[in-house]
Amino acid sequence: MSDSRPRISKAVIPAAGLGTRFLPATKATPKEMLPVVDKPAIQYVVEEAVTAGLSDVLMVTGRNKRPLEDHFDRNHELEEVLLRKGDGSRLARVQESSDLATIHYVRQGDPRGLGHAVLCAAPHVGDQSFAVLLGDDLIDPRDPLLERMIETRERYGGSVVALLEVDPAQVHLYGCAAVRPTAEDDVVEVSGLVEKPEPAEAPSNYAVIGRYVLDPAVFEVLRRTEPGRGGEIQLTDALQELARNPALGGPVHGVVFQGRRYDTGDRGDYLRAIVRLACEREDLGPDFRDWLRSYVTEEL
Ligand code: UTP
Repeated sequence: MSDSRPRISKAVIPAAGLGTRFLPATKATPKEMLPVVDKPAIQYVVEEAVTAGLSDVLMVTGRNKRPLEDHFDRNHELEEVLLRKGDGSRLARVQESSDLATIHYVRQGDPRGLGHAVLCAAPHVGDQSFAVLLGDDLIDPRDPLLERMIETRERYGGSVVALLEVDPAQVHLYGCAAVRPTAEDDVVEVSGLVEKPEPAEAPSNYAVIGRYVLDPAVFEVLRRTEPGRGGEIQLTDALQELARNPALGGPVHGVVFQGRRYDTGDRGDYLRAIVRLACEREDLGPDFRDWLRSYVTEEL
């Protein structure tokens, strides 16, 4: 096992997937740029990383990387126009995303799977533990998860996954974990992992969701991980090897998340996320809720 002491500072955000469930919207735009109310999904994720103390962010991008880079860069022309108009609040909103964090980019030539995307981060991450945040999963900022995962890594070493108890009928949509209890209610030890299992093969109804704190030993394992389900190099397969051989990079633990999470990689959940977040917004919520109430009672 590598270091377990230095506090982690790096976040990796894989954003090179093809986003086929959202075609044609994702034909020329990464799905991470799809707006959730008025911010692209990925901005919520970068904000989450920064709130957890991770100010060095590496994005793994693919063929459509331009909109991502532009979003987190300055836009002087737009800023000048807003400044001239005296529109300070919109100017602040435009500057928010470029002031958030130091963002680095690396290109994943071919989208060969999430495990391969994480491996592309190896030269930037080096020999330190690091976090991985998937842009499809929005974790409500009122229900912090990453901080708890970082604490768990500091306590036990090794790697930490985020787990959600799902309906057994939904387990085949996720990576699924075999677990043993620990002395802490919300932390389990992971003894095995299987990617998108058939219901009969699922070891539990604990689904792996898109937050990870990983020991750098994962890179060595990923280098020799063969393509798995869907012909892709699966991060779950590498974590399965780490869980089975703690001598490689420490144990694997899971933090059981009970807060609010929105799966924006799925069209139905994406729509639900927008409605819920819009209802809760102070500026938009009151009018939107009135409209929604009358829409539901009069038109549905
Ligand atoms: P998904 O499994 O959701 O794949 O990836 P996808 O291709 O983006 O989406 P669909 O299923 O075709 O609609 C989970 C995360 O891993 C990233 C994606 O960008 C997403 O954030 N990813 C996936 C990569 O960065 N590279 C890959 O090769 C695969």
